[in-house]
Amino acid sequence: MADVTSVPSDYFPARALIDLDALAHNVRTVQAAAPSAALMAVVKADAYGHGLVPCAQAAVGAGATWLGVAQVGEALALRDAGLTVPVLTWLYGPDAPFEALLAADVDLSVASPQALEDVADAALRTGRRARVHLKVDTGLGRNGVSPLELAAVVDRLAALGAQGAVELVGVWSHLAYADVPGHPTTALQCAALDDAVARLTAVGLPPAVRHLAGSAAALTDPRTHYDLVRPGIALYGLTPIPALDAADLGLRPVMTLEAELVTVKPVEAASGVSYGHHYVTPGATVLGVVPLGYADGVPRHVSGVDGRPGAPVRVTGDRARDTVVRGRVCMDQVVLDLGPGATERAGDRVVLFGDPARGEPSADDWAALAGTIGYEIVTRIGSRVPRVHRDGPPPVMPTDAAMPTDAAVPTDAAVPDDPATETARLDLTLATADQTRALGTALAGLLRPGDLVVLTGALGAGKTTLTQGIGAGLRVRGQVASPTFTLARVHPALAQGPDLVHVDAYRLESLDDLEALDLDTSLEDSVTVVEWGEGLAEVLSEDRLEIVLDRPHGAGTGSGADDLDMADAEVGERRAVLRGVGARWRGAGLESLRIG
Ligand SMILES: Cc1ncc(COP(=O)(O)O)c(C=O)c1O
Repeated sequence: MADVTSVPSDYFPARALIDLDALAHNVRTVQAAAPSAALMAVVKADAYGHGLVPCAQAAVGAGATWLGVAQVGEALALRDAGLTVPVLTWLYGPDAPFEALLAADVDLSVASPQALEDVADAALRTGRRARVHLKVDTGLGRNGVSPLELAAVVDRLAALGAQGAVELVGVWSHLAYADVPGHPTTALQCAALDDAVARLTAVGLPPAVRHLAGSAAALTDPRTHYDLVRPGIALYGLTPIPALDAADLGLRPVMTLEAELVTVKPVEAASGVSYGHHYVTPGATVLGVVPLGYADGVPRHVSGVDGRPGAPVRVTGDRARDTVVRGRVCMDQVVLDLGPGATERAGDRVVLFGDPARGEPSADDWAALAGTIGYEIVTRIGSRVPRVHRDGPPPVMPTDAAMPTDAAVPTDAAVPDDPATETARLDLTLATADQTRALGTALAGLLRPGDLVVLTGALGAGKTTLTQGIGAGLRVRGQVASPTFTLARVHPALAQGPDLVHVDAYRLESLDDLEALDLDTSLEDSVTVVEWGEGLAEVLSEDRLEIVLDRPHGAGTGSGADDLDMADAEVGERRAVLRGVGARWRGAGLESLRIG
């Protein structure tokens, strides 16, 4: 008999790819929207299904100074993994392993009079003072000290504090209607939190860290930011507000659920597909079987039944296209109708959900079809689906960064010059042409199809150098050069992603007819960079990124070509002002481009 122990057991023809760079981007995006608050990355439920420890490390690497989890086991796992930032845990009963939590220096939420006594007992038993955050039920009606219990708990906190059993670090609560921006309940909850703060302050316990906002409020409601925001879903690139698209909030999806087709076969017309034959092939066609089912978290609600198509799935490869789940979702499999004459073979890759910027459906699309929220889609991806983590910032583990500081305040959301239109701003100094190019490459990471970048600056200021960086970051074909002798040049994307349209508006009266230049690409599917575009390019899009490059002591010779950028590339410092105009750029993460 074969030695079964030598057979690899981790083979699984599907996986959830976890893009830790996107997670880092999302951390910075939320931080830019809440610049005066510290950021607690909420990594409960295995980082919403994305993998607890790698996600926590990436979030801290990107600037999160706190971690938050529901279950105490998750808090201990973070400590076991060597994470040293403050960790708050908030869901436990009287039998929780308090000694271990105190020994691991985990902050404990106190959400009831009983919890306070349990924590204090453990502290007195072990001689370790407990760091606690008083959870107040300000209106969610879930856990937290009720208004009827508050006065007694505040007095008890004061007494236990005097005894040295507990240290009140924070006071906190959770919103009921954050996903409905402007809902009147939010103001009432803020007032209730303020009231709790006032009561604590009156007994000599002013809480250092007040916190209320999850993703939705962190991104949209500065009233709720207090000292700390606690985003979860936004860090994973999905929308916290069903009425808004994640991309419009500047978020990038972190999880891509992909699989290899395990069977591809031709079938006759009128073939019934999957349990109950809810789909019958309209003609002879080719079926593909995907090795993921409801045991893996594919909701049975995204079945294609009763004449409705099921969830969207992207077929990749030479003939990349969209298809849908057909028939019932089974425990381990779903079936796709790849269409007559399909040339896919077993082993070819399909993407169930990922990044719409790559043409893939999003987890939010799946959620809409399943009648749920993106949170549930990613969190329920089953444990047998391998998580494959990619990239991400180097993990850094600050020990003393729990409180917001002035230095932590990004300028991405700085007060705009022109509040009517400006939605983001970043001022930078670029010491070398390499830095100018690197800025372009990093900027490419934020750019999406349809984006317009308007470049302004004197000859030799670095416009073409910056565009070269954008081209490198977008991974487009052809050398990006000064567009002086052409009005516009299209650089097609080498991989998935938008083409780059590089335009010189220097000799143009109007850009109205840019589409008429026969560019062989659609501006909606491309990133368009217009040099000398100020005053002209605005007709192309209400939303745009304006970049002014200024070279105060530059050595332009005035010969009339911007390829001076190349000629004396290393000479002189540049100032770059990036100004986002329109909703597209609100919270888009410009701050993440800050150099050094
Ligand atoms: C107490 C608490 N704070 C913050 C969060 C993060 O919320 P979101 O994922 O909406 O950002 C959650 C998640 O449900 C939570 O329970």
